[in-house]
Amino acid sequence: MQSSTVWAVCILVGTFNLACGLKEIRWCVTSTPEMNKCNHMKEAFESAKMHPLISCVVAASALDCAKKIANKEADAVSLDGGNLYQAAKEHKLKPVVAEKYDQEVGTIYYAVAVVRKSDNSITINNLKMKRSCHTGYGRTAGWNVPIGYLINTGKMSVIGCKIPQAVSEFFNQSCIPGAQRTGFPSSLCQLCIGDEHNKNECAEDDDERYYSYSGAFRCLAEQAGDIAFVKHSTVSDNTDGNNPNPWAKDLNSSDYQLLCRDGSRAEVTDWKACHLAKVPAHAVVVRLDTDGAAIFNALDAGQKKFGITSTGFKMFDSASYNSKDLLFKDSTTEFMLIKNQTYQAWLGTEYLQSLNGLDCYNMPKTLRWCTQSRGELLKCGAMAEAFNSKDLTPPIQCVSGDNPNDCMIKIKNKDIDAVTLDAGQIYTAGKLYELVPAAGESYTSDNDGASYYAVAVVKKSSHNAFTIDQLKGKKSCHTGLDRTAGWNIPIGTLIERGEIKPDKCNIDKAVGEFFSASCVPGAIEKGYPSSLCELCIGDAKGKSKCVFGAEEQYSGYTGAFRCLAEVGDVAFVKHTTVIANTDGNNLEPWAVNLKSSDYQLLCLNGVRAEVNQWRECNLAKVPSHAVMVHPSTPITAVFGLLDKAQDFFGNDSYPNGFKMFDSSAYNGSDLLFKDSTVRIISVGEKTTYEDWLGKNYLEAIKRIECSGAMIPSMMPSLFLLILMLLSFFI
Ligand SMILES: *[C@@H]1O[C@H](CO)[C@@H](O)[C@H](O)[C@H]1NC(C)=O
Ligand SMILES: *[C@@H]1O[C@H](CO)[C@@H](O)[C@H](O)[C@H]1NC(C)=O
Ligand SMILES: *[C@@H]1O[C@H](CO)[C@@H](O)[C@H](O)[C@H]1NC(C)=O
Ligand SMILES: *[C@@H]1O[C@H](CO)[C@@H](O)[C@H](O)[C@H]1NC(C)=O
Repeated sequence: MQSSTVWAVCILVGTFNLACGLKEIRWCVTSTPEMNKCNHMKEAFESAKMHPLISCVVAASALDCAKKIANKEADAVSLDGGNLYQAAKEHKLKPVVAEKYDQEVGTIYYAVAVVRKSDNSITINNLKMKRSCHTGYGRTAGWNVPIGYLINTGKMSVIGCKIPQAVSEFFNQSCIPGAQRTGFPSSLCQLCIGDEHNKNECAEDDDERYYSYSGAFRCLAEQAGDIAFVKHSTVSDNTDGNNPNPWAKDLNSSDYQLLCRDGSRAEVTDWKACHLAKVPAHAVVVRLDTDGAAIFNALDAGQKKFGITSTGFKMFDSASYNSKDLLFKDSTTEFMLIKNQTYQAWLGTEYLQSLNGLDCYNMPKTLRWCTQSRGELLKCGAMAEAFNSKDLTPPIQCVSGDNPNDCMIKIKNKDIDAVTLDAGQIYTAGKLYELVPAAGESYTSDNDGASYYAVAVVKKSSHNAFTIDQLKGKKSCHTGLDRTAGWNIPIGTLIERGEIKPDKCNIDKAVGEFFSASCVPGAIEKGYPSSLCELCIGDAKGKSKCVFGAEEQYSGYTGAFRCLAEVGDVAFVKHTTVIANTDGNNLEPWAVNLKSSDYQLLCLNGVRAEVNQWRECNLAKVPSHAVMVHPSTPITAVFGLLDKAQDFFGNDSYPNGFKMFDSSAYNGSDLLFKDSTVRIISVGEKTTYEDWLGKNYLEAIKRIECSGAMIPSMMPSLFLLILMLLSFFI
């Protein structure tokens, strides 16, 4: 009856459907008891005349099953979320049928972080140096979810994927049963207490009294730890009289709270809203070309005959094999067809975030850094050597790129791994080359540090105090073409105010006509108005005039300010540029006698302000520079390396040795990183170029962008050509 329905469906929809032609489903098993159960399932399906038939294939592990399925040696297996992630990423399998338990559809449980209510200062954002209690090493709620989450959000940095080391440096002490392994730091087991005789400390079973859900909660309840990573039901299972054991019988659930991802806290009953991740149910995975509906139909027919009410073979029972959770979890009540059969949709963003944080697949062997000048190459070489001296991995390799665009292309092609770019370049890198941010620069030690202010600097003058609306005909100095503070923001601002009126998309031409002369490093190629390079001076020998890089002495923040000091009327730079190059802060001959009080800022409201009033008088607040990488590069490895490195080399006042945020030893400024960087910070949740840049900046940049046209001046003629061709045919 059931099988004929399946076949009827197959005949109806299956004429062109290979999967319906599935004569059998080769189920993958990983143990002898599982093989026995699988053989019983095969016989049961056969005797009920169900199709397709089942057969059983043995593999060494869940991941070996995934491999066999990918190689067409098997067809299906039910996997937990962690294995499903690997199976999907490494073997391109997809989830098609979910197990359903007595929970909300698609979920096994919620992984939560529990603290004592009385410790009212703890949040998810300040767990560093706290004492932690975990269900066990490698377990989902106690390890994978919380550690993956902390790494992925940049709260914990990891070097070279040595996760146990990172955890031991992050938490002061922990009890992580099972973490007593060679090479693992001892602090990971330090809070564990073992059995009643204080033996078997840190054992991965009930001999350790702080093992598993109840144990991890006990570790918190007995004040050994400050936080326990458990599941949503753990607190209520062990409080309010629900657990009669002496340690638990007097505990009151209202003495505990949950830490939420947004930094707040909630009552323990609020786990639906306040958790680290929703852990998905186990699901059956198959190859991409296998029809999920056919697999579901077969299992659905099976569960109707051999489900919980069956008197013979039972699909969701493993007790007859002296085991548990064979083929499917014993707590399964039924199967469900998965609608969106992508692993991302099935795992959900929160759980996926944790798994991404732990993903050590694809770890780069080296990190090839794109350098764009001789100074950068020198500094990069010194950086590689310095990092090496501290055994920081992956090791840095220095590779030359011609300019930011060349670096982006090489990263897209995976010839290079990383480069630091400014917001304008990040836009191009993300939009055209699909690069993603891996770490950011912060220019202060507070939370506002991941941004800076674009300002217009002028010389103080009593007789010629022109304002932002009187820039026409002035001589302008820019950090570089398409750069943020030097081009995108000021030109966007002047267009928005109606000062510059570009004809169609020809912004370069309009700028060239607006200012009497400029230095816009990079505007050297054919097609740019020559006035955009008129003020540039090139290198010390007068060569490389108006090139994008450091050879042009008027390029970058310092260069644009020098241009103002020597020839220009206005320089478009950032808020720290004047201070960094005046009052004795820059000892180069051109700067040594400059005074900050001789300069002013142009404000948007038409007045001028002193250079230290940038917070009130700026053109825009812009996102800071970021290290950009290929989307397949694990950003946690990049951030982990830089974060650890800055503990050694981030402090400019450190007397000897390499300094990450100082370029003076290489005769340059802002090499590899901006000199004003205080710290490298994690990108946190801002994992795309759009997240990093933010809505305001994206809007600003779109104002000066001509709808997708990369070579604006070609657009009209191309349009004409098409018109001509069309008219020819009509
Ligand atoms: C870390 O634990 C040690 C004991 O092992 C203690 O002396 C120290 O104060 C703790 N550090 C912090 C920051 O809590
Ligand atoms: C738990 O504590 C709350 C408030 O302190 C109290 O109202 C409640 O009765 C206690 N519950 C139990 C089971 O002791
Ligand atoms: C399936 O999920 C993926 C990942 O979450 C999403 O990008 C896609 O739009 C979804 N497809 C459908 C049909 O909903
Ligand atoms: C920096 O410039 C000085 C003088 O111009 C020169 O003597 C020195 O070799 C340069 N250093 C580097 C690293 O290029």
